[in-house]
Amino acid sequence: MTNPGFRFAGVGAVLPDTIVTNDDLGKNMDTSDQWIRERTGIGSRRVGGTTSGLAAEAAALAMKRANVGPDDIDQLLLATTSPDYMLPGTAPAVAEILGLDCGAIDIQAACSGWVYGLVMANGLLLQGEERILVVGAETLDRMTDYTDRGTGILFGNGAGAAVVEKDSSGAGELLGWDLGADGKYIKILWAEHAGTMKMDGKEVFRQAVIAIQRSANAALDRAGLTVEDIDFVIPHQANIRIVEAAWKRLGFTMEQTGMRLEETGNTSAASIPLALDKVLDDGRISDGDTVMFIGFGAGMTWATTIVRWSGDDRSAVTS
Ligand code: COA
Repeated sequence: MTNPGFRFAGVGAVLPDTIVTNDDLGKNMDTSDQWIRERTGIGSRRVGGTTSGLAAEAAALAMKRANVGPDDIDQLLLATTSPDYMLPGTAPAVAEILGLDCGAIDIQAACSGWVYGLVMANGLLLQGEERILVVGAETLDRMTDYTDRGTGILFGNGAGAAVVEKDSSGAGELLGWDLGADGKYIKILWAEHAGTMKMDGKEVFRQAVIAIQRSANAALDRAGLTVEDIDFVIPHQANIRIVEAAWKRLGFTMEQTGMRLEETGNTSAASIPLALDKVLDDGRISDGDTVMFIGFGAGMTWATTIVRWSGDDRSAVTS
């Protein structure tokens, strides 16, 4: 099959309005701003909203930046680990809000979900579709125990979205990818129906560093690239120390890394597109750059994509 190319026509992201600072959390649990910042890199997180509402808002921004309407979207992939309902999925609700008339499906791969979605979107483009909406959206406040200082400090709400489309010019391309899962590790980070998240933080930390290293290397091998070929990396935003530990092993620098953890906390499937949106605002990625996205999380799951960047030109946006 001919390579369809892969272009980020538009990216958008939103955070709900209500901010919960580390000091706010300190009123209800034995913790402090200093401890949370030093051990995680998190300064605050957002709460409130619904998963479908945040997803639709982020997607509408991405569609506006891509200059496309509802009829131009061929499929909607929504990565979420905090759906509005147990049944049905949340993607049809998002499609309804946006006025889409296309397939709409949830991806539940925890914090790796949005990167899984990019790989699936590339597959759909290979099958002949023109344009896919890939959204990551979470309302993790509904599954977080704010009396447990082991988990209650980490998570937040938000959404990010990208319109990805064929790029016949050959400028943009998905160069390499890796998807993985290991169900041995379910009970290091999980939630029962209607329950809150339980976690073995130390083991999650250890396995996350291993997964990042393994997945990044597998995607590089598939692309026939090395770490030196990568211009920019956006990892899942869970804990700054996880990223630093993995980077020490891989050889990436923080200067080439997109982070938004300080103001968002861990927003699971939304974290990478939320960080990407800020990176584009700051003009840190340009056409032709080789960009890596690395997701990892509960399952365990992990996912990496390497793209030659083409698309969203933030400087052209006026409002
Ligand atoms: N505030 C203050 N003190 C805390 C605390 C908090 N929120 N959480 C734990 N502590 C205390 C512990 O009780 C312990 O005290 P002690 O030495 O007197 O026994 C001490 O701080 C160290 O605890 P520890 O559990 O070793 O801390 P840590 O450095 O492992 O950090 C996490 C805990 C949860 C921040 C860290 O393990 C982590 O981030 N893991 C990965 C979690 C993650 O990213 N999950 C999502 C993956 S997608």
